[in-house]
Amino acid sequence: MFENFANVWTIVGLADDVIAVKPLAMKVAGERVVFFRDANGKAAALIDRCPHRGVALSLGRVDRGEIECPFHGWRFDGAGRNCRVPWNPDARRERLGAISLPVREAGGLLWLFTGCATDTQPSVSDTFSVEGVVVCAQFVTWRAHWTRVMENMLDMPHLPFVHRRTIGKELHRLGGQRMDVRWEERPYGARITGSVDGAPRPGFLEYRFPNTMELFIDPPGKLLRLFAICVPEDEATTRLLLLTTRNFARTRLLNPVFRMMNRRIAKEDQLVVESSQPAAVPPPAEEASVRTDAPTLAFRRLYRQKLLGSSAVPPPREKSEEMAGDPCD
Ligand code: FES
Ligand SMILES: [Fe+2]
Repeated sequence: MFENFANVWTIVGLADDVIAVKPLAMKVAGERVVFFRDANGKAAALIDRCPHRGVALSLGRVDRGEIECPFHGWRFDGAGRNCRVPWNPDARRERLGAISLPVREAGGLLWLFTGCATDTQPSVSDTFSVEGVVVCAQFVTWRAHWTRVMENMLDMPHLPFVHRRTIGKELHRLGGQRMDVRWEERPYGARITGSVDGAPRPGFLEYRFPNTMELFIDPPGKLLRLFAICVPEDEATTRLLLLTTRNFARTRLLNPVFRMMNRRIAKEDQLVVESSQPAAVPPPAEEASVRTDAPTLAFRRLYRQKLLGSSAVPPPREKSEEMAGDPCD
């Protein structure tokens, strides 16, 4: 499960996206996942595949903290335990559970662990705990492998080309001879800073392993940070979650303005990134790179060391009595 993206925490949306009365379905790294609220109101996640006949639980309903399969009405709680098997009062329900996944609600965000168990916690940026910060969220879907999308978010030299009319306008006008980019390791990933002809560029980026970029562009005395979270849906598709966090102009009425800006900038990147071949980032030797590619090459190293080839193992399923007695066995 979760091939090449296993056993990591990823933001998948806002905590408020999970509501009490309806399942929320999404695809993460090749797996269908369903979120709902359990009897205690806590967000829960299951692999979105009924253990009975494999149908999507997310097509069913949520009732008093249990999700009910739309096919034969089996019910599961937030831990995946089977709570009901209609017509079969003698069923050994303890053997008929669904696969549950660790979930956290932290910093107003919804986090999923791409594995079956963990004793770790997600690493949440301090930005979300700054008093008075509001978060504006939006999704865009790109037909690109998430590693290409992530690298694009960590790349500075493209700004005056791809974004010459928006966020790269000033750099485009300024020109210059030499750009330097620094990748400074941090416990959660890295900080990336840049300079042109020796003059430091305003703002900086942070990379949070595995798939988050935080851009710090605080105006004087204020907080303004953009997050790009590259959630793999499958090998060909990335759901890009864009978050704008700010502690000024806090009214929700302004959210559409921030969303419009983000959409425009993301669209500029999308066309270029979707055209990259091969789909996933190849070994470094297979592409030509230069000094200013240091951050993307550092990301590539982490990807190859920690994610490529990774896979989560589902818990073993005991053979049920119903199966043992099956005449087709
Ligand atoms: S397929 Fe889910 S209850 Fe039968
Ligand atoms: Fe860009």
